[in-house]
Amino acid sequence: MRFPSETIRDVLNRRLSRRRVLASGGGLAALSLAGDAAWAQAPLSPLGFEPIVGSADDRVDVPSGYRADVVVRWGDPLFSDTPALQPERVSDGVLFEAGAADAQARQFGYNCDGIGLFPLDDDRMLMCVNHEFPNPSLLFPGWSEARETRSWGEVIRRNPESAAYMQASVGISVVELVHDGAWRYVIDSPYNRRITANTPIEMAGPARGHPLLGGAEGEAPVTALGTLCNCAAGATPWGTYLTAEENVDIFFGNFGAANLTPELERAYARLPPRPRDSRFRWEYADPRFDVASNPGESLKFGWIVEIDPHAPDRPVRKRTALGRLKHEGATTVLARDGRAVVYTGDDQEFEYLYKFVTAARFDPERPERNRDLLDSGTLYVARFLDDGGGEWLPLVFNQHAALTPETGFESQADVVLRCREAADLVGATPLDRPEDVAVSPVTGAVYLACTQGVNRGRTDGVPGGRELDRGADAANPRAANRWGHILELDESGADAAAETFRWEVFMLCGDPAAGSLRTTPVTADQAPADTDVTYFGGSADSEALSAFANPDNLEVDRNGNLWIVTDGVQPRETNNGCFVCPTEGEHRGDVRQFMSGPVGAEICGCEITADGRTLFLTVQHPGEGGSAVDPTSRWPDGGNAAPRPSLVAIEPTDPDRKLGE
Ligand code: FEO
Ligand code: CA
Ligand code: CA
Ligand code: CA
Repeated sequence: MRFPSETIRDVLNRRLSRRRVLASGGGLAALSLAGDAAWAQAPLSPLGFEPIVGSADDRVDVPSGYRADVVVRWGDPLFSDTPALQPERVSDGVLFEAGAADAQARQFGYNCDGIGLFPLDDDRMLMCVNHEFPNPSLLFPGWSEARETRSWGEVIRRNPESAAYMQASVGISVVELVHDGAWRYVIDSPYNRRITANTPIEMAGPARGHPLLGGAEGEAPVTALGTLCNCAAGATPWGTYLTAEENVDIFFGNFGAANLTPELERAYARLPPRPRDSRFRWEYADPRFDVASNPGESLKFGWIVEIDPHAPDRPVRKRTALGRLKHEGATTVLARDGRAVVYTGDDQEFEYLYKFVTAARFDPERPERNRDLLDSGTLYVARFLDDGGGEWLPLVFNQHAALTPETGFESQADVVLRCREAADLVGATPLDRPEDVAVSPVTGAVYLACTQGVNRGRTDGVPGGRELDRGADAANPRAANRWGHILELDESGADAAAETFRWEVFMLCGDPAAGSLRTTPVTADQAPADTDVTYFGGSADSEALSAFANPDNLEVDRNGNLWIVTDGVQPRETNNGCFVCPTEGEHRGDVRQFMSGPVGAEICGCEITADGRTLFLTVQHPGEGGSAVDPTSRWPDGGNAAPRPSLVAIEPTDPDRKLGE
């Protein structure tokens, strides 16, 4: 669908007048998306805090009037029979010792990323936390030192238990939290559990039983071992946790030596494992991660995985209907008719934004009906038109001429397994690393973080052998895009299941005081824009705005404020942090820094409790860039302790205050 008679100016004028209507409160109930009328009526609020100045110090900063508490750290035992990590002994090689992996499998995992909140009552909740990947440089003395000779495989060969340790350090932690003056975690809660790289997980949906995955239908249950590279995440309306498997290619090595069938070659074409060594060298101790030995194993990763934190005995399932790609996250809302819609970005340069619309409706009365909702439905990929329009293109076997036996697709299983190839063929729009998605409960607007596109605008060396125009376009207007941007989508009819949408650039990140701050978005005929051109939703006060770059996880609170956490080198060389701005009204785009993290860390998580009192963030890879014997951070324990990725709760100290109000 195109809008040839409409100029971008018409689109902007219409959007601006719509925004004035929204800002004055009209029509909000009609735009309620998640069905929470109370939120939809909420007025837009001033931010209510004094912004902090970005810091390069090794600590967590929050505004005055707020408190940041470390709730649970890497290595904290989830069970009383489990020893605690001794962080001051990491530099001595304690994690090479026998028993370290078994202990880690019952401790809070490493490198926490996305989270999900599942309230039990006013003061208790279950928290699911992703643990994205290990950082052996900070875990094991000798790893960093092996850089000169690139002999990391030898480190693993000499210490095969270190691969087992890393496998136990990743995956998910489910942990109960209680608020008794501050949030703390509950040791020995019956809900506490770890899911690691070795936990049995059922394959579900169209690709279950696909011959390339190494199991035929009828061999029930068809299982994978473990989940990997769990990046961002989200809770569903039916109380489960969706965790996204992202950069799974880096966990598998020796692809170049594998003797593959043509079917496997094609399945891997757009998401190949590492040609020689994997990043963490597990294949030196465990042939499961050696593609030459186990050619189909890696295809069991790259999916959305569903966990029921309330039912520890219920199987964990990989929901293959949502496609195989580098899933950044999974953000679920309800369509107007009650079907569930899951948005998910594919975080790599020139990859796509997807959404999955379930066939059946969410049934709040009969929970068992929602259990396998994500196995049937329609997977779509987004096309962004230069005029501000957009289309959701269905990736459905035999529905599109490019997805038929004539083009080598024999089933929907083939479509989801070769999801990127299918998206190429239907004409999706390549984006600058599409990361997390958040949906405003006030307006239904969908926000997509595009973290970076450093190769946007290049004309040489197109990677991956596909036809690809890497030039700037309206949706990716900067070449190159070092600082990242945020897109804002309005689904047609404010219905998440719509097949068309309107969109605009909400933010071109960077330092508004350093380059030129625009007050109108870059249009198609103005792209490419330079890296130092910024746009903050129309905000004009370059001195008051907080500089930030590389947006990663997002959240929209009940007042429509967008919370942004970052992962990258910041424009003023400060540490990564958390930033917030209103999305509507006169303060739209007025970004203010709310939190600054420790040295070397990216900030993740970013979920707010339903009562608006607590913001949960995770601190991932503090100390990155250093080594186990010489880390660049000692956060949070200080002294001689190794840096510890941790979950942090931020609350106003005044018990009557709420976040962003
Ligand atoms: Fe794991 Fe795209 O961040
Ligand atoms: Ca991320
Ligand atoms: Ca979120
Ligand atoms: Ca990240």
